[in-house]
Amino acid sequence: MAAYDKLVAEAAADYQGYWGRLARELVSWKKPFTKVLNDSDAPFFKWFEDGTLNVSYNCLDRNVERGLGDKTAIIFEADDGKVTTASYRQLLAQTCRLANGLRSLGVKKGDRVVIYISMSIEGVAAMQACARIGATHSVVFGGFSAQSLRDRIADTGAVAVITADQQVRGGKQLPLKAIVDEALALGGCESVRHVLVAKRTGADVGFQAGRDVWLNELLAGQADTCEPEWVEAEHPLFLLYTSGSTGKPKGVQHASGGYLLHAALTTKWTFDLKDDDIFWCTADIGWVTGHSYITYGPLALGGTEIVFEGVPTYPDAGRFWQMIQKHKVSVFYTAPTAIRSLIKAAEGNEAVHPKKYDLSSLRILGSVGEPINPAAWEWYHQHIGGGRCPIVDTFWQTETGGHMITPLPGATPLVPGSCTLPFPGIQAAIVDETGKDVPNGQGGILVVKQPWPSMIRTIWGDPERFKKSYYPEDFKGKYYLAGDGAIRDEKTGYFTITGRIDDVLNVSGHRMGTMEIESALVSHTELVAEAAVVGRPDDTTGEAICAFVVLKRPRPTGEEAKKIAAELRNWVGKEIGPIAKPKDIRFGDNLPKTRSGKIMRRLLRSIAKGEAITQDTSTLENPAILEQLAQTN
Ligand code: WT7
Repeated sequence: MAAYDKLVAEAAADYQGYWGRLARELVSWKKPFTKVLNDSDAPFFKWFEDGTLNVSYNCLDRNVERGLGDKTAIIFEADDGKVTTASYRQLLAQTCRLANGLRSLGVKKGDRVVIYISMSIEGVAAMQACARIGATHSVVFGGFSAQSLRDRIADTGAVAVITADQQVRGGKQLPLKAIVDEALALGGCESVRHVLVAKRTGADVGFQAGRDVWLNELLAGQADTCEPEWVEAEHPLFLLYTSGSTGKPKGVQHASGGYLLHAALTTKWTFDLKDDDIFWCTADIGWVTGHSYITYGPLALGGTEIVFEGVPTYPDAGRFWQMIQKHKVSVFYTAPTAIRSLIKAAEGNEAVHPKKYDLSSLRILGSVGEPINPAAWEWYHQHIGGGRCPIVDTFWQTETGGHMITPLPGATPLVPGSCTLPFPGIQAAIVDETGKDVPNGQGGILVVKQPWPSMIRTIWGDPERFKKSYYPEDFKGKYYLAGDGAIRDEKTGYFTITGRIDDVLNVSGHRMGTMEIESALVSHTELVAEAAVVGRPDDTTGEAICAFVVLKRPRPTGEEAKKIAAELRNWVGKEIGPIAKPKDIRFGDNLPKTRSGKIMRRLLRSIAKGEAITQDTSTLENPAILEQLAQTN
């Protein structure tokens, strides 16, 4: 803690000096920066703006140059357990061939490339190849539907899509290329000139000559060296779409220099990554966690990491523990929702209990994506960490690029359920609606008082929405608004995140906007008249989606209600993706509204939870509706 305090003091005494020092130590610059922060156009902050670099050079070439060419960069384990490895030299060669291939198709600096692929060495190499030529990637999680993929392709104006014929998860072959074809056929994606297709299963897929390119054929003719495109520090490295409180997902734009710095620095400090560690982050590269703690952070440090194609429950719920044993994983980073579901599985089946496996290689455990409840924390600590591994409960967001509030392992005394203290240099605070600091022990709104290098730069194509969402006038545009509530412990000052303060749900660590799901429901124009979506607590997924629906026909009951609910669930799955399917769908003749027509969501939240209504319902237009909506199907 003395070392932690020293870093915090260094940042407090000379904020720019602190970040400048770390940026020189962790990042290799082609042209060194002379200026750390430009805040003249706040909140559009610029970091290290006159420096140039290449992110893929930093993650690959640099490691080969310092003698790590033969070191394993990636241990890939396929769904069926087959293992493939790539050394730094091999990953660099593969990235260069792909970068050359993209260049041969005319893809250049500033172009956007959408990547729709499952967990694979190809997926990581595709992201690195984009970074190498200065193309801005936007990875779309392989679980998103054709409609969601289309929306993202259209919004980015991508010139190319990189995908695979299929993906394999839990023993099942699932489509990827077919969904890309469907997305492009929906229209609005005319910017796409090429679709690059990796062969994962060899399945027969549609092929449109002139547009579609087999990745293996493209790579065959390419040199395995490729001069990096040296870009300005602020050059957009990637766009990643995430849900906000309005219907349309936002394209969070990250820069190159500042993002790489924080991805590398947090991997180094939060995970204490050492040369001989085997690091495993179980996130998908379709989420920000996979960007920062698979594609960029660990590689920037020359680490060795696992990339896993499959799911935690196949062939059985011992898969994670079996893989930790097999690969001697030393640092393991996963989500509370996975832990909770594996606890359930282990309690029901001795054979998949972690005690059946040798987990003695582990030294640090991490948690991310949602609050970890103390019971899950204790189980993780005891049964996975053998009571000896610190758990780093890392609070951060797509927008923050890397960890914001987290323990540093071995230094920060741990308290289950608390993400403890801000990462050194991060000015996290809790304020009231007027922006005034609230005392410890009193909950409030989580903000960050100073810009930091890996922060969101803007929302792609919508700078006004960026300002409104993250630098609202409530705080005079001075503080970054995270969108979460938090409270600090009276004695220790430790942070506990109390949950979102906007209309955003967190289902299994996946962020979903309630409005997004509502729009999907009402887009079923034949059936749905009106819909309101709220979250309710769920033992396994953290929150569950509960939808209240008014149909364009009389309110259904019994079997009919079940049938329509199933149809609507599938509809949402098709519109957004399976992760957005409501767990509960309730039907009413109407929704509870005030006399001015506003839906009373607080009431709906209580109904979803099965709570007795204690709120004042006197302003309610139609109180009888509450009883109807309490009926489950
Ligand atoms: C939201 C961000 C961070 C990468 C994965 C999710 C919640 C995240 C924690 C944590 C409590 C957490 C917050 C945040 N969240 N980590 N350790 N404790 N809550 O990224 O999809 O952008 O979601 O996830 O509500 O705002 P995301």
